Amino acid sequence: MQMLSLVTNITLMAVLLIFLSFSLIVSLSSGAHTITGNQSISGDETITSKDESFQLGFFKAGNSSNYYIGMWYNNKKVSRDPQTVAWVANRQTPVSDRFSSQLKIVGGNLVLLNESQSIIWSTGVNSSSSNSDSATTVVILLDDGNLVLRSGLNNSDIINIWQSFDFPTHTWLPGAKISYDKRTRTKKLLTSWKSTEDPAEGLFSLELDPVGAQYLIKWNKTTQYWTSGSWNEKDKLFTLAPEMRLNYIYNFSYVSNKNESYFTYSMYNPSIISRSIMDVSGQMKQLTFLDTTQQWNLFWSQPRQQCDVYDYCGAFGSCRESGLPFCNCLTGFSPRSQPEWDLSDFSGGCVRKTDLQCGRTSEKYEFLRISSNNKPPNSSTSLAVGTYGECESYCLSNCSCNAYSYDNNGCSIWDTQLLNLSDDNSNKIITINVKVASKDLPSDKKDNGVIIGAVVGSILGVVLLMGLIWFLIIRWRNNRRFIGQTGVEGSLVSFVYRDLHTATKNFSEKLGGGGFGSVFKGTLPDSSVVAVKKLESVSQGEKQFRTEVSTIGSIQHMNLVRLRGFCSEGTSKLLVYDYMPNGSIGAHLFSKDGLVLDWKTRYQIALGTARGLVYLHEKCRDCIIHCDIKPENVLLDADLSPKVADFGLAKLVGRDFSRVLTTMRGTRGYLAPEWLSGVAITTKADVYSYGMMTLELISGTRNSEQQQQSESEEDGRKKFFPMQVADILIDGNKDDDILKLLDPRLNGEASLKELTKLCKVACWCIQDDEEDRPAMSQVEQILDGVLDVNMPPKPRSLQLFYDNINDAHVVFYTEESSTSS
Ligand SMILES: *[C@@H]1O[C@H](CO)[C@@H](O)[C@H](O)[C@H]1NC(C)=O
Ligand SMILES: *[C@@H]1O[C@H](CO)[C@@H](O)[C@H](O)[C@H]1NC(C)=O
Ligand SMILES: *[C@@H]1O[C@H](CO)[C@@H](O)[C@H](O)[C@H]1NC(C)=O
Ligand SMILES: *[C@@H]1O[C@H](CO)[C@@H](O)[C@H](O)[C@H]1NC(C)=O
Ligand SMILES: *[C@@H]1O[C@H](CO)[C@@H](O)[C@H](O)[C@H]1NC(C)=O
Ligand SMILES: *[C@@H]1O[C@H](CO)[C@@H](O)[C@H](O)[C@H]1NC(C)=O
Ligand SMILES: *[C@@H]1O[C@H](CO)[C@@H](O)[C@H](O)[C@H]1NC(C)=O
Ligand SMILES: *[C@@H]1O[C@H](CO)[C@@H](O)[C@H](O)[C@H]1NC(C)=O
Ligand SMILES: *[C@@H]1O[C@H](CO)[C@@H](O)[C@H](O)[C@H]1NC(C)=O
Ligand SMILES: *[C@@H]1O[C@H](CO)[C@@H](O)[C@H](O)[C@H]1NC(C)=O
Ligand SMILES: *[C@@H]1O[C@H](CO)[C@@H](O)[C@H](O)[C@H]1NC(C)=O
Repeated sequence: MQMLSLVTNITLMAVLLIFLSFSLIVSLSSGAHTITGNQSISGDETITSKDESFQLGFFKAGNSSNYYIGMWYNNKKVSRDPQTVAWVANRQTPVSDRFSSQLKIVGGNLVLLNESQSIIWSTGVNSSSSNSDSATTVVILLDDGNLVLRSGLNNSDIINIWQSFDFPTHTWLPGAKISYDKRTRTKKLLTSWKSTEDPAEGLFSLELDPVGAQYLIKWNKTTQYWTSGSWNEKDKLFTLAPEMRLNYIYNFSYVSNKNESYFTYSMYNPSIISRSIMDVSGQMKQLTFLDTTQQWNLFWSQPRQQCDVYDYCGAFGSCRESGLPFCNCLTGFSPRSQPEWDLSDFSGGCVRKTDLQCGRTSEKYEFLRISSNNKPPNSSTSLAVGTYGECESYCLSNCSCNAYSYDNNGCSIWDTQLLNLSDDNSNKIITINVKVASKDLPSDKKDNGVIIGAVVGSILGVVLLMGLIWFLIIRWRNNRRFIGQTGVEGSLVSFVYRDLHTATKNFSEKLGGGGFGSVFKGTLPDSSVVAVKKLESVSQGEKQFRTEVSTIGSIQHMNLVRLRGFCSEGTSKLLVYDYMPNGSIGAHLFSKDGLVLDWKTRYQIALGTARGLVYLHEKCRDCIIHCDIKPENVLLDADLSPKVADFGLAKLVGRDFSRVLTTMRGTRGYLAPEWLSGVAITTKADVYSYGMMTLELISGTRNSEQQQQSESEEDGRKKFFPMQVADILIDGNKDDDILKLLDPRLNGEASLKELTKLCKVACWCIQDDEEDRPAMSQVEQILDGVLDVNMPPKPRSLQLFYDNINDAHVVFYTEESSTSS
């Protein structure tokens, strides 16, 4: 019995010992934040910063089999699957076996040894200048994501020999610099990855131009396609990108001394996790991590339009802003490398399906006619040629000719590839003829022998006949369904594209355009009038689209425009709404031909719009944030009762929201500051826009256009209308002052009580801090007279925002003059 317990005790102790030693090893390798002289990293080993924000080790991107030494976010909040990589050491020289590769200190440098123990990456510090004794060199991963190589374990003489902040890859972390070294005349660049799975240097990079104290984004380090504008030290902002400061996320600073010039930034609120990246899309992007969605939230990117990125789609590729994919090959061309295209690396461009063959006549060529807003670079002008026909035949006969164009300046020949093509050819500056093998062009005149022709002809005939019968049946059924369903309440009609095409007379009567697409007037066979919205760039799949549409269709309220039906055929997505005979309130407020809406109507519009928004925000099954409240989106029915249009569309168009926003240029005067600040958007963003719109309802003029020289301020700055309202409400004491704010067309005919109330409500709605803004239901109650309203405080940042936008001459706060249905 005693024997037995002894054995048990020994086993227990052994187990305990094994457990102890095991846990010792684990804690050693996972908790380490340094690499010292006799240590190395290999396989799955990592080092972690003291506060666990960052981790360094081997990683691979996506499905690629290459491994890299990199640093990624290790913060508890930020997901590690997939890792968000912030820095890469050996971006050009991957390894395939991470277990036989190692990262260690050799001769005072941190080096990466590959499978055969050759150095493939090194910090490259001149060992003579530092202490070459490996024993006193140490690598530390700091909490801010800086990897530093230090000489001297001894605290009294620490020297940073090298730091990763001086060698950023595609991520610019707070505290790091983008610099120009005046002594060596070298620039530190932020360079995009080659593709989403390949951290090797891509074609797009951000650099500092020390002369202009500005950032530039360049293609292949040569062709510049974006600039921030020079740094304005007084206001601490970039002249062409003032929103970079105005969002109050990043505190930029510019330093220029004898040795170097650089930009760096810190976070105004250090608890926000944020990063700035040069993306594979060729755009500079700023993101913050949102706890609520557990995702990185893109809140700023430049250039705004994808197709403004120079040569984004490569040679013979064409960029299309509306609708995915952005890049497509010209007709007769296909991607040089499909796998690369699939990983968003379009730099390889497109190649002819049939190569140009020199000296042989068997292949026939024709010209593909494309138009372009700019002349693609690198043409050579052949002056010797006189006419259009000569220009064409020169290109046809010369096998090195890729394309030609002929205009007033003569004949231009491209022996080089065609770069920087875009589908958006609204200006049609130039027509280019691209040489393509005849067989790769869609052709209508093919007669390859009588027999084949006859056979094909008869088959075609039968097919056509069957097609016709089928078409007629479908037509008949659709018409029946159409007639059968228009009367059904609470369900949407699914329209056939052809019918809408007919109803709108080939989309001829345009009512307006907006962020999501154009609207056309149409008349259905039952002679009811509708507004048909052609959606642009819907990224959702068919099923999801139908789900979203039926959600929108189920929302019915007297202050919301009713969706009657939709059409979804391939890429054509249309929505059919009730037609509003009196147009939008914007059309009346801001145009001379509009109705002069009397005070009572205006007050009812403010109240009705608030009711519609309350319904969207609080009464629907899923809360809907409208995101685009503006005078163009509040329509008037026959009785001048307001109906909010375009709700639910932001979600429908989907994708990342910021992209939608960039296309909603006309809307920016109504955007709440948090849209630029990287925090999650709530219903309070609509409250802000509602406030801005209400002020315009009062004044009858766009806030951005209305300004008044302020007498009190010595700098003579113009005063933004919402600021005037706040000043008069809070500082003014005469009722006359308030009446001055009223639209002059009303001749002072308004209820002073209601006017004051509306001014106060609007002023509460446009507070900087969303916590300070009322909920839409409170607005409704105040306007209904159920609740009282206190005096609002002055919105703080409004004036600063406005001044800087004006100073910078940026089209950011102005609206395009558009009218909507
Ligand atoms: C590494 O070297 C230090 C002193 O240089 C020593 O204390 C430590 O035990 C060594 N570690 C290993 C794992 O050899
Ligand atoms: C990785 O490959 C699998 C199968 O080949 C594929 O389904 C998946 O989408 C790929 N993932 C990425 C990120 O490309
Ligand atoms: C390691 O790197 C050296 C030098 O770059 C190269 O010659 C060798 O092939 C590499 N070894 C492996 C296994 O890739
Ligand atoms: C490294 O040091 C040597 C001698 O001290 C010098 O000749 C060489 O130019 C240095 N190299 C670099 C890259 O600084
Ligand atoms: C630190 O360095 C000083 C001189 O550089 C030396 O006297 C001292 O002994 C060192 N301390 C330790 C703990 O190594
Ligand atoms: C980028 O520039 C280098 C030389 O500066 C050139 O060799 C390379 O072909 C260029 N890349 C492209 C895609 O044009
Ligand atoms: C912004 O950065 C500068 C320079 O680093 C610093 O002096 C200043 O205090 C920062 N401002 C704020 C509000 O954090
Ligand atoms: C410039 O570099 C020199 C030598 O590296 C250094 O001594 C000096 O402090 C630097 N000056 C500034 C302003 O950083
Ligand atoms: C490239 O195309 C964009 C958009 O079409 C245009 O704005 C830009 O000027 C073009 N760049 C060059 C160098 O032609
Ligand atoms: C194309 O034109 C650009 C400037 O527009 C020039 O820098 C580049 O070298 C040219 N490339 C070729 C292949 O001629
Ligand atoms: C073809 O074009 C190239 C470059 O424009 C020129 O050098 C060559 O002489 C031309 N060949 C013929 C046959 O015209």
